[in-house]
Amino acid sequence: MLEATDLAVEFSSRGRRARAVDGVNLAVGDGEIVALVGESGCGKTTLARTLLGLERPSSGTVSYAGSPLSYRSKALKAHRRQVQLVLQDPMGSLNPRQTVYEAVAEGPRIHGLADEEKVVAEALSHAGLRPPERFFLRYPHELSGGQRQRVVIAGALALNPKVLIADEPVASLDASVRGEILALLLRLRDDLGLSALVVTHDLGLAWNIADRVAVMYLGRIVESGPTEEILKNPQHPYTQALLSVLPESPKRIVLTGEPPDPTRIPTGCRFHPRCQIVAAGNPIAEKCRTDLLPILPNKTTPQAACHLL
Ligand SMILES: Nc1ncnc2c1ncn2[C@@H]1O[C@H](COP(=O)(O)OP(=O)(O)OP(=O)(O)O)[C@@H](O)[C@H]1O
Ligand code: SF4
Ligand SMILES: [Mg+2]
Repeated sequence: MLEATDLAVEFSSRGRRARAVDGVNLAVGDGEIVALVGESGCGKTTLARTLLGLERPSSGTVSYAGSPLSYRSKALKAHRRQVQLVLQDPMGSLNPRQTVYEAVAEGPRIHGLADEEKVVAEALSHAGLRPPERFFLRYPHELSGGQRQRVVIAGALALNPKVLIADEPVASLDASVRGEILALLLRLRDDLGLSALVVTHDLGLAWNIADRVAVMYLGRIVESGPTEEILKNPQHPYTQALLSVLPESPKRIVLTGEPPDPTRIPTGCRFHPRCQIVAAGNPIAEKCRTDLLPILPNKTTPQAACHLL
């Protein structure tokens, strides 16, 4: 459905090249929910924005339904209708002076859709705000956090997309609301056949919702595969460290070293300065410091990029 092939996105940051996305292969299949996980600054949002056509890759391609994305404005507009962004911060993405109706009707107006009121009502209803008419004239401050997030989701649904990209969709919500919104995303997949890429730094969240997980570190996918297999049997030391912070984990692995900086990507395995295997003095460390790892291909079976494997 939506696919990144050998994707790279660079920024220039204070005169230096920041390789925010540095060779990524990733696909979201029809009706599939994929979680993209990794700590802050690893390039998740940049990858998501590039898949949406909001950022232009410096190399590689984004394709939708088998065709490479064209960056001409008409093609981009069509792409952004099929692939919709849902932002993590409902208060920040809703205008406080705009009613729920106006907020949800914005997209359909830009795209010139007919039957606006029906489109808005259906979108609210699919997002679980029922009866929809009761919400038309409400303002964001009159709603709960979960309801606001549902309005943001309704705004995306109003354009009848095929793929939702949810960037930390529940980061700002409390735990019970989180569960509700995740259940909603699963229901949208079942009812409307939607696919989703859920961007998060919370592996526990991925566990509850995703069919597949891709773990990102410093611009690369370092491990990917079906959620169950990755979470029960993580192969990459970075995934093992991320999982070790979950409450059910027996032993916490503390990562040493500085947080990753995309203007200074380490030689060899890009994770080596923080890797617990290297820190423990494993003889493989020499190889880790010097030998590059291949970029993981786009496949659905479990895979990880590490010299140990
Ligand atoms: N427009 C930009 N110009 C320069 N550098 C950027 C730009 N956007 C992102 N970056 C850099 O690219 C890297 C990846 O950022 P990105 O926002 O994609 O990370 P993220 O994984 O989404 O992090 P978070 O979990 O904090 O949202 C960061 O080092 C960031 O500073
Ligand atoms: S290649 Fe080496 S440094 Fe990289 S994750 Fe594997 S063990 Fe750690
Ligand atoms: Mg982000």
